[in-house]
Amino acid sequence: MVYLTRRERFSAAHRMYIPEWSDEQNLEVFGKCSNPSWHGHDYVLFVTVKGPLPEKTGLVININSLKEIIREMIIDKVDHKNLNLEVDFMKGINATTENLAVAIWNELEKPLREAGCELHCIRIDETENNTIEYYGKKD
Ligand code: NI
Repeated sequence: MVYLTRRERFSAAHRMYIPEWSDEQNLEVFGKCSNPSWHGHDYVLFVTVKGPLPEKTGLVININSLKEIIREMIIDKVDHKNLNLEVDFMKGINATTENLAVAIWNELEKPLREAGCELHCIRIDETENNTIEYYGKKD
């Protein structure tokens, strides 16, 4: 099994909050990311796929196919957008980086399988210091 990781960057606005809670409660749990007037991050997304290595091509997946799938399914939808308001796969979901990683996994899993490889990990760096990793549902 060989693992391949593609890095993409995007900038997006968000707010982490629970609608039923007061601004004070949200601030206590979600900190500055609960700012009611939104704010943005320069996110870095790492998509790791895995697969056996075909002897003939020596490629896990054609890198251009991988790039196009990530761009079409994710980057075009989130870059310079508001994650809470404008991104179909984040509708009704609290825009934490954890939830974003799971949502991105759910968007990419099928198209990547159809392209001949398996999704292994979604990693998102929200800041230089905060990184989330999701490896899919485990038993
Ligand atoms: Ni934030």
